[in-house]
This record gives sequence, C-alpha cells and structure tokens, in this order.
Amino acid sequence: MSVLVKRIALTVLAVVVTVGSASAAERQYPGVGREATPAEIQSWDIDVRPDGKGAPPGHGTAVQGERVYLVKCASCHGEFGEGGGRYPVLIGGFGTLKHQRPEKTIGSYWPYASTIFDYIKRAMPFGNAQSLNNDEVYGLTAYLLFMNDIITDDTVVSAENIGTIEMPNRVNFFDDPRPDAQPKGELCMKDCGGPIKVVGSARKLDVTPETGGDAVDVSAASSAPTETQVAAVPSGDAKAGRSVFNKCKACHLVDSAKNRVGPGLKDLFGRAAGTHEDYKYSKDMMAAGDKGLVWTDETIAAFVADPKGYLGEQLAKSRANTRMAFAGIRSEKDILDLIAYLKEATKP
Ligand code: HEC
Ligand code: HEC
Repeated sequence: MSVLVKRIALTVLAVVVTVGSASAAERQYPGVGREATPAEIQSWDIDVRPDGKGAPPGHGTAVQGERVYLVKCASCHGEFGEGGGRYPVLIGGFGTLKHQRPEKTIGSYWPYASTIFDYIKRAMPFGNAQSLNNDEVYGLTAYLLFMNDIITDDTVVSAENIGTIEMPNRVNFFDDPRPDAQPKGELCMKDCGGPIKVVGSARKLDVTPETGGDAVDVSAASSAPTETQVAAVPSGDAKAGRSVFNKCKACHLVDSAKNRVGPGLKDLFGRAAGTHEDYKYSKDMMAAGDKGLVWTDETIAAFVADPKGYLGEQLAKSRANTRMAFAGIRSEKDILDLIAYLKEATKP
C-alpha cells in the first residue's frame, strides 16, 4: 500500500471523525488534506457485508473456481483444502466445534458466505493480495462452498445471492442474551455528543510522520540528537513530564509491572534492558541488555530521543531493530521532564 494512499485514507478518516464532510473540513482547516476522489474511496471501500451489501458485480461456479484454486491456492492450502504445513485448513471440520480441539474452517465455523468472498478478495493469494478479479473470487467462493457441501457444483455465486447463502454455523452466532450484557438505556445512533471540538493534533503529539516513508520509522528518529546530554542537568519537572508520557501511554503502563504493547515500566530504573519478566523483547533489546545496558536517567533519555539509533549504538550498528515503534522525542526539555516523571511514577 503506498504512502500516498495511506495518507489519503487518513485524511478521509480525519474528515469523517472531526467534521463529517470534506468540504466543511477544507473551510475549517485550510491547507489540511483534500477531498478524496470517488475513485480513491472506491478502491478502499471493498467490504462485503453479510447481507451482500457491497458485493461487486460478477459471478462464478465451483467448476470455474476449481481451476483458479489449483493454480493459485492449492500450493498452500492443499489440493483438497486440507491445509499444508501451517496454512489453514479450508474444508471440513464439521461436528468438531464442541471438541476440545475444534477445527474451525470457513465451512464449519464462519457464519457468512460474504466473508469468504471479502477475505479472498482482500487478502489472498497470500503475498499477492488483490490480484484476483471479481469473477475469479466468486468462483473460488463457490468452489470452497461446494467442497464444504454447502452448495452444489452448478450453483452460480454472484453479487445477487452471496448474502443469502445459508452457512451451517450461522445459528450459533447470536446477540448475547445475558441481562448484564444488555446496553443501558437507548443507544444513540446519530448526532451523539454535541458539537465536536478539536483538542489536539496528531502532529503535535508527534505521531504523524512529516515526510514519506515507513510510517513507523519517521523522520524524527534520524534528525533527533543521538547523544542527548541529559546527565548534566537532571532537573526536569515531573508534572510536565506526566503529559510527555502521554506519548508512551498507549504502549506502557508506568506504575505497573503488567505488559501492554511494551513492557511494564514499574521499577524501571536500575533494571537491565530487555529483562522484564514475561515480556517478549526484540533480539536487539535483549542483546543490548546482555552487553550491559541498564536503564538510568541518561540511558532512558538517550533511548527515548532516538530508540533505534541509540540501541544501534549499543550494538555497534547504525540502527537497531527495536520493537518499540516510536520515533523519538526531540525536545530536551520534554525528555528531562519525562525522566523526572518516570522517576516518581515507576518507583517500586
Ligand atoms: C502462499 C501461501 C498462500 C496462498 C498461495 C494462498 N493462501 Fe490463503 N491463507 C494463507 C495464510 C498464511 C492464511 C492465514 C492468514 C492469517 O491468518 O492471517 C490464509 C488464509 C486463508 C483463508 C481464511 C482461512 C481461515 O479459516 O481463517 C481463506 C478463505 C484463504 N486463505 C483462501 C485462499 C484462496 C482462495 C487462495 C487462492 C486464491 C489462497 N488462500 C492462497 C496462505 C496462502
Ligand atoms: C508504539 C508503542 C510504544 C510507544 C509509543 C513507546 N514504547 Fe517503549 N517500548 C515499546 C516496545 C514494543 C518495547 C520493547 C522493545 C524491544 O523489545 O525492542 C519498548 C521498550 C521500552 C523500554 C525498555 C524497557 C525494558 O524493559 O527494557 C523503555 C525504557 C521504554 N520503552 C520507554 C518508553 C517511553 C519513555 C516512551 C514514551 C516516550 C515509550 N517507551 C513509547 C513500545 C512503545
């Protein structure tokens, strides 16, 4: 997926979330984004819903699908959908759902035929996704339904009937009837919550890359100072640091040992890198720990300024493969404040 397409998608999303219409957004935030073209929206809007809504025109039968299947799918999923190696089984599994090791296949488990179409169209063949045309995908869907004994080999599967094919396990998907799972009061479905106020911007939070390229490894990392001289002035403001930590919050708990995307940071100071229990670190983080990297004011400061660069330095290579998808904090003051906050908040 190109960066341009991603950008446009983000723009579309932002517009929907913040004001509800692109033209309004243009007026309100001049210079931010542009209206997505119908073609751009169409290329993203490929979901097919259980009732068949969104199914693109086209049709196919099992016989047609089999030909495509043997060429493009059997190498991984097996000639009879039996799955090869670790690739998923696509056929069978009926009557196993109550077993200790149920075999959940698209036939035995999936509630809607539309999902089969949607999934194949969107994601298969693995490694060459979205290379199939609609007729091929209808044919493959028909073939897999036929092989699962859900339709006959001459049933034409098409936009018209994809939403009406009855799947064996459909009945076992139902709304949770337990009283404590029911919504409280009427659900608001429209104009909920009054006018929307923009209270922050992704750019200020430093989560939006300013140049193209890898969405994770953003420009900030390369322009950030690799050696931040923090040790000399260890006088941050913990209160201000608390808001700097907002950048970390999505991935780290500060006062708990519990792991999220990143390891729990409780008791961080003095701990060797990559050693928090039950957390699956990257090889590079563990290697840095083995080489003696211990988390202190200075090392944390240098790490958050440029995670990949700093960790790389420890391992004598230019960039490390840390799993921490974070560009780095540029402002030295922010870093000092953050350290002050972490010192208090991570105390054992
Ligand atoms: C290179 C190997 C490969 C090829 C070729 C391939 N697949 Fe897959 N397929 C996978 C993998 C891997 C997954 C699981 C992906 C995941 O779980 O994220 C998968 C998942 C699926 C699933 C969902 C199964 C489930 O129960 O979750 C379907 C349906 C599917 N593939 C259909 C197809 C069809 C149809 C083709 C041919 C057009 C195809 N695949 C070609 C590797 C492959
Ligand atoms: C997008 C998620 C994410 C964000 C945001 C993030 N981290 Fe991390 N952090 C991780 C992951 C994942 C690791 C594990 C890295 C590895 O194994 O290479 C990690 C590792 C660390 C470590 C090493 C801990 C250890 O046990 O060795 C520290 C320290 C750290 N992060 C601090 C921070 C701080 C401070 C911030 C905010 C400025 C932050 N992180 C932002 C995901 C994140």
